[in-house]
Amino acid sequence: MRRRTLLLAAPALALSLPARAAAATPFALGVASGDPGPTGFVIWTRLMPAPGGALPDQPVPVDWVVAEDEAFRRPAARGQAMARPDEAHSIHVEVTGLRPGAWYHYRFTALGEASPTGRARTAPAPGAEDPLHIAVANCQQYEHGFYAAHRHIAASNPDLVAFLGDYIYEASWGRNLVRSHASPTARTLEDYRARYALYRSDPDLQAAHAACPWVVTWDDHEVSNDYGGEIGERERGAPFLARRAAAYQAFWEHMPLPRSARPAGASARIHRRIGLGSLAQIHLLDDRQYRHPQACQPPDRGGATRVTFDQCAELADPARSILGAEQEAWLTDGLARESVRWTLIAQQTRMARLGGRQAPPVYWTDGWDGYQPARARLLSQLAARRRDQGTPLVLGGDIHAFLAAELRPDFDRPETPACAVEFVATSITSQNNARYALPFPNDPHITYADASRRGWLSLRLTQRDAVATMMALDNPLDATSGASPLARFAVAQGMPRLETA
Ligand SMILES: [Fe+2]
Repeated sequence: MRRRTLLLAAPALALSLPARAAAATPFALGVASGDPGPTGFVIWTRLMPAPGGALPDQPVPVDWVVAEDEAFRRPAARGQAMARPDEAHSIHVEVTGLRPGAWYHYRFTALGEASPTGRARTAPAPGAEDPLHIAVANCQQYEHGFYAAHRHIAASNPDLVAFLGDYIYEASWGRNLVRSHASPTARTLEDYRARYALYRSDPDLQAAHAACPWVVTWDDHEVSNDYGGEIGERERGAPFLARRAAAYQAFWEHMPLPRSARPAGASARIHRRIGLGSLAQIHLLDDRQYRHPQACQPPDRGGATRVTFDQCAELADPARSILGAEQEAWLTDGLARESVRWTLIAQQTRMARLGGRQAPPVYWTDGWDGYQPARARLLSQLAARRRDQGTPLVLGGDIHAFLAAELRPDFDRPETPACAVEFVATSITSQNNARYALPFPNDPHITYADASRRGWLSLRLTQRDAVATMMALDNPLDATSGASPLARFAVAQGMPRLETA
């Protein structure tokens, strides 16, 4: 109750909706679309009770319509879905029968009210090579800043947002907080639902969801800090799996995901491929759920640590996987079969090796540095592929910093050709105290790093090249902050090498 009151007091929300609608609409969390295919996409909403009220403890019918025009004079598809209480009155409609590469408008009606309108674009037709603009974003701790980055993303008219994890944070942390979760660390389904609802109440986040389809994966904070597989930092066994099941359920309820991603208990298959004509294919990975726990965990807890190779034989163990055997095989197979201009490997953590300046190097075990043989397997496959199968771009997040790197199967042989280029998008808001100062003598493949700024990455793909622009906010503590390009890199199709653009 206190949370709802705070939420409605937010001045930006009051500005974005008429006062009466803000008080009465069941669509206070906005609308979203996701996972575009050539003939459709997923549309999502979740009904919320009016302040002080409640939704019926039974399914509520929600009518939906997709139209070619903003005024909904030319409807292209329509139907009715049931918003069920056991899914927090969310709905996920897989719309089909649409034209490829086309923009549509959609909205919902329930309980006598109409939702805001969203825009979504279907994927290009197989064979098409239309240019694409993808916004890459992650890590949006609500207390650390306002979502000015999302307002700018919406205004930049991307075809797609790729969101790479830490959509919510289960816990409060950091300094100079600008707003509050106003609730303790999330552990139960009710807690996680409330956390998503709070984040989703933000009008700038709603605007980015309404602007285009999103493809989403998760990282650790959708459950708990640095969890790996079935082991949390501070809990394991049945209590951790019960928490993971609650967290996965709430993620599903709040994301524009297809039915195939619906969890069963503490499991949910969210790794999947998104085909974007012949220009690109996204392999969207889940490097949390199936991984071996982080290497050489301290005796008193789970989670990650910093170790050298001498201190931790597990770092070199080829049996350890960050994706799990099944997902690794799925990725290997998909990479072997495809033929596109751009192979986008979208995942949650940094892939480039980074062992600091010291000798011997010290590795953080949470990301791919903790799974180096598994990383070498993937990069060796990319190095061995035919050029016409796709130029690999790895997209990542998690480190709350911008980073650009050239990837090789053996990072100790910088004279060998790179097999992929990596771009890591900084956080939307989440803080970072790290200082990245180039160059990294042990890791010369890292061309660029900046941990000082918050923002997102704008990626523009054509048949000829990929241009990545690191977009930085002036001030994440200011909801009206401006944003400007901090750095820009280009990659020529067929040549996985970083060039300053
Ligand atoms: Fe994060």
